[in-house]
Amino acid sequence: MSELDSEAMEDEFGVAAAWTEEAARALGPGHAVPAGCRGSGSVGSLRWLADRLELAPGDLLVDSGAGVGGPARWVAGEREVAPVCLEPMVGAVHASRRLFGLPSAVALAQALPLRDRVTGAAWSLGVLCTTADKAGALAELHRVLRPGGRLGLLVFAQVVDELPAPPPDGNTFPTPAELTALLDGAGFDVVDRATADLHDNPPGWQDAADAVDAEVARRHGEDPRYRHSLQQAQRMGALLSAGALSPELVVAARRA
Ligand SMILES: C[S@@+](CC[C@H](N)C(=O)[O-])C[C@H]1O[C@@H](n2cnc3c(N)ncnc32)[C@H](O)[C@@H]1O
Repeated sequence: MSELDSEAMEDEFGVAAAWTEEAARALGPGHAVPAGCRGSGSVGSLRWLADRLELAPGDLLVDSGAGVGGPARWVAGEREVAPVCLEPMVGAVHASRRLFGLPSAVALAQALPLRDRVTGAAWSLGVLCTTADKAGALAELHRVLRPGGRLGLLVFAQVVDELPAPPPDGNTFPTPAELTALLDGAGFDVVDRATADLHDNPPGWQDAADAVDAEVARRHGEDPRYRHSLQQAQRMGALLSAGALSPELVVAARRA
């Protein structure tokens, strides 16, 4: 196994990221940012987080587990900040560079290639559920944030005792109480918390993302890696539809 916790996740986040880049380019302007937000919930979620991160124009924003870079591109445009994208999958790192021109590097959340206290803001969207070592990822975010610096998270929390269907391979979902304890243990104080509305997007946004998905299916639908990747997404969708998972938004401040 390579760097991620499962091979299916490598198909989902590495191979599919490269395919997303290819399809977004083919379809043209207006497709890349919606398609590049893989797992970040919605524009409403991104706005909720950005409003609470105390961002000023020109600020550095560390994006840990940035994927294809859609959220980083969105916040750079909306808030004039300077994101740095860190992400273990090479295909996704290439996509964020080539689609959006974002500074991006290959890195695990548990080993960020940044110096201590380098930033006042960081976010990590849909990432904690995809890694077993959640405490290690939060410890690194604590290390690179300045005291008082803000962390934004999107986490899919398990809100039932037992999942009614199999989770996507490699995913483990903390309960809301476990998430609180993880943040406290890593040295963060929760500032605000909400349940994300995953459908809070501007007109045309979902259509653009769906068009990219359809183009990827047209080009790669026969590839077994496509089927792996689709199965991962379908498992996640089934758990959300069943109400077993709740998309939680959290903003927390780094304790001194
Ligand atoms: C659901 S996607 C979200 C991507 C992006 N944050 C977004 O919202 O569009 C989860 C991302 O976490 C990354 N990931 C998985 N394990 C990781 C780890 N240990 N460290 C950093 N990123 C990881 C995956 O490669 C993938 O890009």
